[in-house]
Amino acid sequence: MKTTYFPDKFIEKYKYFCKNEWGEFFTTIQIKQPKSFWVNSNLTNKKEVEKNLNDLNIKFQNYPFHNFAYGIDYPNPGQLELFKSAKISIQEKASMLPVIALNPTNQDYVLDACASPGTKTIQLSNFSKKVKATDVNSKRIEILNYNKKKYNLKNVEVVRADVRNVKDTFDKILLDAPCSSEGLVRKDFDALKEWTPKLVLEKARLQKEILIYCFDLLKYGGQMVYSTCSFAPEENEDVVNFLMQKREDATVEKINLDGIKIRYNPLCENYVRLWPQDNNTQQFGFCLISKKD
Ligand SMILES: C[S@@+](CC[C@H](N)C(=O)[O-])C[C@H]1O[C@@H](n2cnc3c(N)ncnc32)[C@H](O)[C@@H]1O
Repeated sequence: MKTTYFPDKFIEKYKYFCKNEWGEFFTTIQIKQPKSFWVNSNLTNKKEVEKNLNDLNIKFQNYPFHNFAYGIDYPNPGQLELFKSAKISIQEKASMLPVIALNPTNQDYVLDACASPGTKTIQLSNFSKKVKATDVNSKRIEILNYNKKKYNLKNVEVVRADVRNVKDTFDKILLDAPCSSEGLVRKDFDALKEWTPKLVLEKARLQKEILIYCFDLLKYGGQMVYSTCSFAPEENEDVVNFLMQKREDATVEKINLDGIKIRYNPLCENYVRLWPQDNNTQQFGFCLISKKD
């Protein structure tokens, strides 16, 4: 049977970081994550989705943090008609939370700065007035274009670009940054094959550049979410502290999410850390940043 690949240096680093919780952390990240989905309100509503699942005798749970967020007791939701017809999007529970924290409304022009393949673009499209979705990678932008069509994301403009070349200003920004992908181990046994301490530092350097650039695209009074699926402080709290040192008008706001246990690291006030064993999710880090008026 295939097992998860862990580099020795990763184990050494997180044994030290997790201290007495290492055992629980390490056990959890070797267990496959639960299945979950998001209701695409561009094409359906929760009543129709629940009726369809009840008719099929499939068990599901509506997560307390949002009406459109569900867990499902079904081994392959990708085979469901609901998925094939784009009424639901398969999305990991923790990865739904950055958009909930950003809370876009139908008044907002939103930048999805690193958007492909577009799971969070679907969520943004459900709430926002207009979304510009950028990604630098030409292969991945094809998937985003495919998803725009499939999920009927009419208010989304897809642009292949390095976000550091975008010139507009925005009410809200989601920066779901390129990262070392540490958090993906519960989905992919080989997620850490390319992982090295050097990769983490390279990603952190890029994240700092992109974060500063995106913050400068925010209108005064606007808000942005910075998120990564890495557990590394270098890619989370350190990046946001860098922004705080460079931009005096940036503040990290406190986030509350119903039914989600949030932890903080003293390195950066209000920066949310999701430990996999707390909410049975992937590892995740994010925060809500305001730009003072
Ligand atoms: C974590 S993934 C985004 C996942 C996506 N937000 C979702 O939820 O489906 C990070 C993305 O950033 C893109 N990227 C990396 N550097 C970029 C840059 N300078 N400008 C725009 N996109 C970039 C990568 O191609 C990758 O698709």
